[in-house]
Amino acid sequence: MVAVGLQATASLPISIRSITKRYGAFTALDAVDLEVDSGEFLTLLGPSGSGKTTLLMVLAGFIRPESGTVLFGERDVSLAPPHKRDVGMVFQNYALFPHMSVAGNVAYPLKLRSIPKAEVGRRVREALELVQLGTLGERRIDQLSGGQRQRVALARAIVFEPRILLMDEPLSALDKKLREEMQIEVRNLHRRLGLTTVYVTHDQREALTMSDRVAVIDGGRVRQIGRPRDIYERPDSRFIAEFIGESQFLPVVLRDGAAWLDSHRLAVERPPPTAQGAHLLVVRPEKLTVLPAADSGHGLNLFEGTVKEVVYQGESSLVYVSLAGGLELSVRRPSRGADAVPVAPGAPIRMGLAPADVVIVPAELHP
Ligand SMILES: Nc1ncnc2c1ncn2[C@@H]1O[C@H](COP(=O)(O)OP(=O)(O)OP(=O)(O)O)[C@@H](O)[C@H]1O
Ligand SMILES: [Mg+2]
Repeated sequence: MVAVGLQATASLPISIRSITKRYGAFTALDAVDLEVDSGEFLTLLGPSGSGKTTLLMVLAGFIRPESGTVLFGERDVSLAPPHKRDVGMVFQNYALFPHMSVAGNVAYPLKLRSIPKAEVGRRVREALELVQLGTLGERRIDQLSGGQRQRVALARAIVFEPRILLMDEPLSALDKKLREEMQIEVRNLHRRLGLTTVYVTHDQREALTMSDRVAVIDGGRVRQIGRPRDIYERPDSRFIAEFIGESQFLPVVLRDGAAWLDSHRLAVERPPPTAQGAHLLVVRPEKLTVLPAADSGHGLNLFEGTVKEVVYQGESSLVYVSLAGGLELSVRRPSRGADAVPVAPGAPIRMGLAPADVVIVPAELHP
């Protein structure tokens, strides 16, 4: 490993307090509150138009909100211009100078800050080593691949040792394989530098892979924030369950402290919500187990139906099942070892859902 002098010895926490941003009558950010811990990798995940870029631009200082406060550590930066905020920024389109050399691009933020020439050379070399472009300093940007350009953009964002790093869909232009490699590289870079990082993506897998925590945004509001596993396993609304991973919903009624699917009382590990009335059971296809005929499925919540269709998808198959009462469920079965219980269209099928995997959300999209 290369000895690298670049460090973020003093990364800072971020406090976003009641930030509202309007474009005319349209509210792009609606009283957003968000705390990012020092050194944390936090991802803003949300559908197109949900306000992710707007929030990032508010943090960078390119957009001035109507109200609210942004603190970097103790410092209120709400009114500070971008160049006084000490944040590194990676834009979606790289925003590199195409005819300048790699080294020239990376040196740019240092020149803006009037860093002495010898120091510039050293820091540029270090930053390029860090993103594994040590040998390409003299190349022109238009002679680089997409992944290499992305790394130049990263080097440029960290070369002046910012205390906060903001990235807006930095990998979206790359093909799947390169994107997955770069995800690991960005993550490793974050581990080494420990920079407080706010990362924007609309790719849920990327968010789950890379983040310490994920904040899911929709309609200019943070709808749920948590560690990737909590967001996936414990969605607290229909929107989150639908947006992240594959979910199917069965109507349940909450009554007398229990959840009822028709006349069946669901076996649950955690008590169901205390509200009464119509709710939804969230069932992810991979949480269901297909039970052999002899297996009574003791302790599991059982679903019986008829196999409608089996769709082979490579590493797994999706089995579509019709339940009684016109409801449908699909169950995902790994291709390997999947022959234990054969399934064929038209055949009866029994599936089990463990009490630990029961998730119940209100019926409205956003409660
Ligand atoms: N300058 C502007 N004037 C008017 N409306 C704007 C302006 N900039 C953004 N918006 C609107 O604000 C909303 C949020 O935009 P933003 O760019 O933050 O979304 P996003 O979550 O980054 O989406 P995407 O995933 O497509 O990049 C969108 O509905 C957008 O149309
Ligand atoms: Mg955007």
